[in-house]
Amino acid sequence: MYKSFFGLKENPFNVNPDPRYLFLTKETEEALSGLMYGVQNRKGFITLTGEVGTGKTTLINRLLDWLHQRRARTAFLFNSRMNTNQMFDFILAEFGISCDSQTKSQQLMRLNQWLLERYRAGETTVLIVDEAQNLTYPVLEEIRLLTNLETCTEKLLQIVLSGQQELEEKLMLPQLRQLRQRIMLRCKTTPLTKEQTHDYIAERLRIAGACGELIFSPKAVETIHLYSLGIPRVVNLLCEHSLINAYAEQQRPISPKIVEEVAHEFQLDEVEPTAPAESTRIQADVYNSDAFIQNLGEALSRFRMSSPGTTPTRGRK
Ligand SMILES: Nc1ncnc2c1ncn2[C@@H]1O[C@H](COP(=O)(O)OP(=O)(O)O)[C@@H](O)[C@H]1O
Ligand SMILES: [Mg+2]
Repeated sequence: MYKSFFGLKENPFNVNPDPRYLFLTKETEEALSGLMYGVQNRKGFITLTGEVGTGKTTLINRLLDWLHQRRARTAFLFNSRMNTNQMFDFILAEFGISCDSQTKSQQLMRLNQWLLERYRAGETTVLIVDEAQNLTYPVLEEIRLLTNLETCTEKLLQIVLSGQQELEEKLMLPQLRQLRQRIMLRCKTTPLTKEQTHDYIAERLRIAGACGELIFSPKAVETIHLYSLGIPRVVNLLCEHSLINAYAEQQRPISPKIVEEVAHEFQLDEVEPTAPAESTRIQADVYNSDAFIQNLGEALSRFRMSSPGTTPTRGRK
């Protein structure tokens, strides 16, 4: 609908991970080459962390494409809410390994044998877990044990754990010390700077067929950066809805006011509520329970929000 009004051939701000729209900043390029280097050099354990919406899954998809071009064998687990039995089922299914037995020890033996075959054939095998901040302690422990599958010189299976900041905090737990020690490379995604937000929007419009006529006024772009804090997912949301609203008003180029209205509609102009202090108090016995570890991500994000000086503020009131 708004496409012809703005001279576009397609919707520029789809949130689908379309590889044609991949936008690489210096920081994302660094993260991507870190992932590629780590996997290629059989570093074993690699993490990719960053705030929600900053492009982790997008980079993982790019990494998967790159790995497939190199005939690497990959298992991609995007649903991290699983127990250890399900994890082994998923891994075998993703790698396409047939195994008659449902017992973990048999499955592990079969996986080891298959990994050795791949290694002898000169193939790289990679396990990627997305949303890894949700993994429970027992599952993380099993993943750690998978790094024991090795020859005397090299790891047979490369593992990438991708997740939100909470993953890093979870990995700081004393119980996960052994896993933490095995992480050989830590890659990160970061929000876009003001200039990068400008270039990101311009690049998406160009790919969608824009022919140079101004669509967002420079002030509108600044406003988008202000409310999105440079998080690509939020930039997309603001741009998409600004295009819709501006089309309804037949306005071109888009003014900052349109963006502000969208930000208000999606409550991006509100300061995030902070949790009361009592809700963050953690008792020692709870600290050691599995349930605590499972809920750690949530608990820590509440803690962060209530810490003095770390209260996140969003945009303008
Ligand atoms: N480097 C990038 N290039 C192009 N689009 C991006 C990029 N990073 C994020 N996006 C956009 O933002 C959306 C959210 O990114 P995503 O990878 O799902 O973030 P995360 O996994 O960190 O939550 C994507 O669907 C995509 O539209
Ligand atoms: Mg993601």
